[in-house]
Amino acid sequence: MSAQFPVARPRRLRRTPALRRLVAETRLSPADLVLPMFVKEGIAEPNPIGSMPGIVQHTRDSLRKAAHEAVAAGVGGLILFGVPAVKDAVGSAADAPDGVVQTALRDLASDLGDSAVIMTDLCLDEFTDHGHCGIVTEAGEIDNDATLERYARIAVAQAEAGADVVAPSGMMDGQVAAIRRALDGAGYPELPILAYSAKYASAYYGPFREAAECAPQFGDRATHQQDPANAAESLREVRLDLAEGADMVMVKPAGAYLDIIRQVRDSVDVPVAAYQVSGEYAMIEAAAERGWVDRERTIDESLVAIRRAGADIVLTYWATEVAQRLAR
Ligand code: PBG
Repeated sequence: MSAQFPVARPRRLRRTPALRRLVAETRLSPADLVLPMFVKEGIAEPNPIGSMPGIVQHTRDSLRKAAHEAVAAGVGGLILFGVPAVKDAVGSAADAPDGVVQTALRDLASDLGDSAVIMTDLCLDEFTDHGHCGIVTEAGEIDNDATLERYARIAVAQAEAGADVVAPSGMMDGQVAAIRRALDGAGYPELPILAYSAKYASAYYGPFREAAECAPQFGDRATHQQDPANAAESLREVRLDLAEGADMVMVKPAGAYLDIIRQVRDSVDVPVAAYQVSGEYAMIEAAAERGWVDRERTIDESLVAIRRAGADIVLTYWATEVAQRLAR
């Protein structure tokens, strides 16, 4: 065999860490990461979440501290989830001016100023006693349009408390339009909406339901969240949300839906976010704890894959840790 063969040697560019770094097509950057955070009303100490090692339900104070730490590491944004002390059928605490999320928003807005984007998950499931994302009829079904009225009020309450972005996650039809109209009417025409547009009815949300104490008391979310079998449907949801005024769109979960992230990225000209959800976090943490995978490498690979698939913004429970590691 001649010494010239083979001519093409892709391995040349993989030879050293410096070469590999130079030719890397995808990079992780703290600014692209958003940290989801849970804050619970009326607790004195942070409450660890069993199925999400390292993640807690924050007290008002521990939230401020953890948010500061995330922002100091360069994380681009935070997204808040609240667990109220009292729940009822219509989720009254979701839009109460002194509700747990609104209180946390005022704290963070004053602590952080413009140093990071403070987002809110806009939904009802954490606030309803039945754990559903909307108003439930006597027949046990979700009343789409009655739910929109609640979402509109929650959006305004979150805006008044200082949210920089609201992120509706309930998958009700027309939710983006209802929220846009409410925000505009209340004097917040410039407040952006990050729409959870392509949100699947996923088993990967399991640990979150412990974290946010919002497991549905009956039924499931399959009548509003998407069937994992479908892809074209996501493009329709995204198109509808953009027509209704969404400024950014989200795909959720991320790791099992990389094809959807790519298709959405190729079909729109707005920022695309992807949510690496609680179950994705729990699986890697659990396997790493047993020594079955290398924890840091698996985390980094999972995040690079989501960015490579086309996500501009990644919501991940590892945001602070990864941002700190990137800075080293
Ligand atoms: C709804 C909401 C959920 C998650 C984010 N927003 C739960 C659900 O739809 O059942 C899941 C996030 C995660 O699993 O990390 N408020």
